[in-house]
Amino acid sequence: MNLARWIRAAALPILGGLLLAGGLMLTSPGTASAASNASQLAVPSEPDGNKACLECHSKNETMNRDGKEISIHVNGAEYAESVHGIISCVRCHAEAGPEHAADPNKPLNLPTGRELAVLKSQGCVKCHAGPYEESYNLSFHGVAVANGDNRAATCVDCHGVHNILPSRNTASAVSPENLAGTCGTAECHQGAPENFAKGKEHVIASEKSAPASLHLVYKFFMILILFDTMKDGPIVMFELLRRLQAGRGH
Ligand code: HEC
Ligand code: HEC
Ligand code: HEC
Ligand code: HEC
Repeated sequence: MNLARWIRAAALPILGGLLLAGGLMLTSPGTASAASNASQLAVPSEPDGNKACLECHSKNETMNRDGKEISIHVNGAEYAESVHGIISCVRCHAEAGPEHAADPNKPLNLPTGRELAVLKSQGCVKCHAGPYEESYNLSFHGVAVANGDNRAATCVDCHGVHNILPSRNTASAVSPENLAGTCGTAECHQGAPENFAKGKEHVIASEKSAPASLHLVYKFFMILILFDTMKDGPIVMFELLRRLQAGRGH
């Protein structure tokens, strides 16, 4: 068998193999699992500096901003039990350095209300980059906030602030038990039907964990694209070989 015929005979299995490999690549387990995400967070145990902050902030106090009383109270026990009990306050509050503790009444000029929630939530993804950030950015909430609509939910609206717990903990704001209540507040989706909050929140269509229909549509198009790109390779190769052989014949 000459080279060209051999390649022609082998092309189909090769193409099939490449498609299969591509398909397998697409179905390999996604990275959105909570465990793999958490294990990527190499943050040392460092809660000691927090005592100083909590000396002042665990007392029920408020500060005055633009004529409004704003709470600066943080429940120390709740914080210690939360997922972030192992990290320093200043990891999320870089603005509150040693100068702040020395002169606490000097305003830090942070925004207030919704603007603060949006600003601070942008900091969550410094540590929780990857699938959670990606899926949020693709969600209706993420898109709305990115377009300047501060009313849509930020990370802290769903997860809480200084009391964040994993969703598998029944006391978590985003546990299956509490999710309907978290979504159904007066500012958000009051009166929404009961199964409104059912299903996964952080969904990326490319993940195997995405709803079956969404994931299938995604795979169909990815395989189509893969096929479309790969079929051109062999076609070019056949054409070159044909010309080479035609050239030899002369
Ligand atoms: C000596 C007491 C004291 C200590 C220690 C202290 N704070 Fe404060 N903090 C205050 C007071 C009082 C305010 C309100 C300031 C005002 O009225 O503008 C405040 C305000 C804040 C604010 C809101 C600032 C703003 O302008 O919006 C943050 C955030 C904050 N503190 C975080 C921290 C962190 C984190 C630590 C530890 C690194 C810390 N604080 C240590 C007393 C303290
Ligand atoms: C995981 C990030 C994170 C950590 C860690 C954290 N905070 Fe916060 N903190 C936030 C966010 C987000 C807000 C804004 C919440 C909002 O208004 O929606 C906030 C708000 C505050 C405020 C109120 C500021 C204002 O103007 O309303 C104070 C005071 C504060 N934090 C102190 C602390 C202290 C003290 C600690 C440590 C015991 C701490 N924080 C740890 C994320 C964090
Ligand atoms: C400085 C890094 C850092 C920042 C900033 C941060 N986190 Fe975390 N987060 C952690 C660490 C460390 C854990 C604990 C991981 C573990 O349980 O192993 C954690 C855990 C979590 C968990 C539970 C994860 C799980 O698998 O159980 C959630 C939810 C979470 N964070 C949400 C947030 C939100 C919302 C913000 C922004 C307000 C935020 N984080 C900001 C470091 C951070
Ligand atoms: C609309 C509500 C909502 C918003 C907004 C939201 N989350 Fe979540 N988050 C959830 C729910 C519900 C879960 C539980 C798993 C699921 O449904 O995907 C979760 C799970 C997580 C987890 C895995 C740990 C766990 O508790 O299961 C992390 C980490 C996390 N979110 C981080 C973030 C970060 C960072 C942001 C902002 C960029 C964010 N989330 C925005 C609702 C939300």
